[in-house]
Amino acid sequence: MASHEGKPIRVALLGCGTVGTEVVRLLTDQAADLTARVGAPVQVAGIAVRRPNKHREVPAELLTTDAEALVASDDVDVIVEVIGGIEPARTLLLSALRAGKSVVTANKALLAEHSAELFEASDASGADLYFEAAVAGAIPLLRPLRESLAGDRITRVMGIVNGTTNFILSGMDSTGASYAETLEEATRLGYAEADPTADVDGFDAASKAAILASLAFHSRVTAADVHREGIASVSAADIAAAKALGRTVKLLAICERVPIGGADDQTTADDGEGISVRVHPAMIPTSHPLASVHGAFNAVFVEADAAGEMMFYGQGAGGAPTASAVLGDLVAVARNRVHRGRGPRESAYAALPVRPMGQTPTRYHISLDVADRAGVLSQVAAVFAEHDVSIAAVRQEGRVDDASLVIVTHAATDAALRSTVDKIGGLPVVREVVSVMRVEGEEI
Ligand code: NDP
Ligand code: HSE
Repeated sequence: MASHEGKPIRVALLGCGTVGTEVVRLLTDQAADLTARVGAPVQVAGIAVRRPNKHREVPAELLTTDAEALVASDDVDVIVEVIGGIEPARTLLLSALRAGKSVVTANKALLAEHSAELFEASDASGADLYFEAAVAGAIPLLRPLRESLAGDRITRVMGIVNGTTNFILSGMDSTGASYAETLEEATRLGYAEADPTADVDGFDAASKAAILASLAFHSRVTAADVHREGIASVSAADIAAAKALGRTVKLLAICERVPIGGADDQTTADDGEGISVRVHPAMIPTSHPLASVHGAFNAVFVEADAAGEMMFYGQGAGGAPTASAVLGDLVAVARNRVHRGRGPRESAYAALPVRPMGQTPTRYHISLDVADRAGVLSQVAAVFAEHDVSIAAVRQEGRVDDASLVIVTHAATDAALRSTVDKIGGLPVVREVVSVMRVEGEEI
């Protein structure tokens, strides 16, 4: 990699949509400060897009539809990729890294599937690979995990990493409206995309969870390793049941160290330690700091042995907030080029195995409509005992001729819980299984 010593750093921008437009604006508005901070001017060499006629906001002479040629140009030192998706981003970034050009990307989908080959290419040429904007938008989170906490032992990362679903769940909580009604409102206000699948089905959060787990636990975790449940099945009844218990429903990404390798466990690890990486809706106490994260904001809790608990909070999406994270990375890679430095490489030495969700115990809240007569509670409790699911708390409220029965369990596996609920749903005294949802936070 050549040293620059005051020569301009030439940047190729791949994509100029919501994020890219703001990257160009910040680079232009802050040109003088950036030059001073980097030690050399940072200049846009070209911008690759699909439809150049649509981009009146940037100088026409910078636009091209030939991203490949732009990446290969001798006039380019750094690539900023804000196209999104797997291809052509993957091929373009591999070519750039192999040619020794530093890469900054906001592309969580790509990193969650192909980080191994991207890091290999980065290692082979010594070019930097930075991706702070890929998780939680503006919030400085990946650099703290990758660098600031590199001397500690992180035990757990839990957070709200998808703004669209948090906006929908917050809306359902405050209005009592259904999932479908609130999604419609989110789409009308421009929070949810025209095709909201990646957000509401948890794919976006699962990609982010894979990236967080890889960095926190020095292991390679891909999106396919992440247990994923979205919010489409969260009902107004679930939200109301949570409220009645002083809880609120959030879509959580949870990455934690767990014991692994027991007698009935197919996965083995010499040190008996693995990781659980999962995305699912869960009830958390309204007193929990994550419960007061509303709208499109993101927040992530990190627990480490020596540092203790930390929370990172801020705007997890949007053009300008995400561009802030991109610019931070751009300054870092530009400084490295000017001063012959090198950013952190992949750290996957721990290679901790991911424990399958079927073997991961979590706690559950179950709400039932039952007949209000003698012996009902004991029939229900017997089914829990039969499946070895231990009950932590029970609350019953009688109505005229039936009752609402709320049960919170101790930790149980999905399989045990599912067979318990199936059997309970078939009991003649149970009129309806109103809500079944995971519980996170302290015991009730
Ligand atoms: P947009 O859809 O708004 O922009 C994508 C851009 O890529 C467009 O300018 C489009 O060109 C261009 N593009 C698409 N395909 C090609 C191609 N084959 N060759 C060249 N250019 C292409 O996306 P965003 O700005 O919202 O997102 C960009 C990245 O940032 C994604 O990885 C996303 O996950 C990530 N991100 C986004 C956040 C957000 O809030 N939006 C937050 C955090 C991360 P054209 O305009 O001509 O169609
Ligand atoms: N669609 C994402 C969200 C954008 O709603 O959080 C940020 O990655």
